[in-house]
Amino acid sequence: MKVPAYEVKDINLFKKGKMRIEWARREMPVLASIHNNFLKRKPLKGIHISACLHVTTETANLVLALRDGGAEVALCASNPLSTQDDVASALAKEGIKVYAIKGEDRKTYYNHIIYCLENRPHITMDDGADLVSTLHKKRRDLIKNVIGGTEETTTGVIMLRAMCEKGVLEYPIIAVNDAYTKYLFDNRYGTGQSTIDGIMRATNILLAGKKFVVCGYGWCGRGIATRAKGMGANVIVCEVDAIRALEAIMDGFTVKPLKEAAKEGDIFCTSTGNLNVIREEHFKLMKDGAIVANSGHFNVEINIPDLKNLSKRIRKIKDFVEEFSLKNGKKIYLLADGRLVNLSSAEGHPSAVMDMSFSNQALSVEFLVQNSNKLEKKVYPVPQEIDSKIALLKLKSLGVSIDELTPEQKRYLTSWEFGT
Ligand code: NAI
Repeated sequence: MKVPAYEVKDINLFKKGKMRIEWARREMPVLASIHNNFLKRKPLKGIHISACLHVTTETANLVLALRDGGAEVALCASNPLSTQDDVASALAKEGIKVYAIKGEDRKTYYNHIIYCLENRPHITMDDGADLVSTLHKKRRDLIKNVIGGTEETTTGVIMLRAMCEKGVLEYPIIAVNDAYTKYLFDNRYGTGQSTIDGIMRATNILLAGKKFVVCGYGWCGRGIATRAKGMGANVIVCEVDAIRALEAIMDGFTVKPLKEAAKEGDIFCTSTGNLNVIREEHFKLMKDGAIVANSGHFNVEINIPDLKNLSKRIRKIKDFVEEFSLKNGKKIYLLADGRLVNLSSAEGHPSAVMDMSFSNQALSVEFLVQNSNKLEKKVYPVPQEIDSKIALLKLKSLGVSIDELTPEQKRYLTSWEFGT
């Protein structure tokens, strides 16, 4: 197969991309310190990495750190709408094999994954497991080179665990998503802020006083609910898990089934990692003018075929806003084609949280290189030392120091004899 050196929207966008990558770096001090260290030691010399990630300014900083650590990196998008074209061009100018264009169709999206795999990876880096599943389904001949992989998001980790349980996963994966310094910050504060940002950039709607329905009170959902509340919205949470529903109540939110919330909501946002969460029965109950968006990984949380079937007319109102005129006379507005709204109509997570997520990625890659012969074909957590190191480095970058246990306290915490 003849693989181009890169495939981007317009290579001339590179100057803007370069500046924006530099801007993100200001907020990524932990990754910068790993980058400097990689530059000196070259721990990834000779390692080929195929990465399927959202092509953003933060990803660019990760890719450059891996490149300067000695790796040969190819990059494709992990979502057809999340690519920042100027960033893709800037990386192509840096000699990275980038295959990503914002708005690419499904066929091009998967072609770009195939191009990225032509880098003959020793390590795969995924956000949603599309690269790993394409490798396992279509390019099994390349699997023998692979020593391990990393996975960035909840949905990808769920899929890779399913592959492991079914005995089809062919190499070890590190679940970056499950590091404390990832999901507690990226999924919660990152998705929280950027999802609101995406909804506001697409619609410019006032949130104060609106009824904002959040489906899924996981790490992303609680971030979205908290930030929407902070903007003055009345937040309703819909859940299927009793414990999470209880948490939402005690965090001060109203909880009810979606069939009830559907009648009142002004804005709906899904972040469940599940499919067909908002579907025909809910659309039929919605108020005229309701806005629906998704911040979960795949565009399956809102049942778009149902919405189309219920509609007599569909038109694009503005970028990332589609109007569905239902046969019942009401209008529903779908944002960003039901894809990750924070990465489609805004810029994704703020760099300060991606600093920790991508530091986990960089150090997990180094861990895989050093330990590949000891690992089985399983999904592993990020080693605790890496997680703690990143937290300490982040605190240091914020100028914050913390207390230490005294020897007496350490003894107390590991003993059982003391009573009152
Ligand atoms: P999580 O597992 O912590 O939370 C998901 C929640 O959704 C759970 O509490 C579950 O009970 C609930 N849920 C499942 N089905 C439901 C249904 N039908 N109705 C209502 N609630 C339901 O997962 P997390 O980390 O919050 O991730 C959620 C999704 O967001 C995943 O697809 C993940 O990959 C994605 N994600 C998106 C990001 C973004 O940038 N927008 C960033 C990080 C993750």
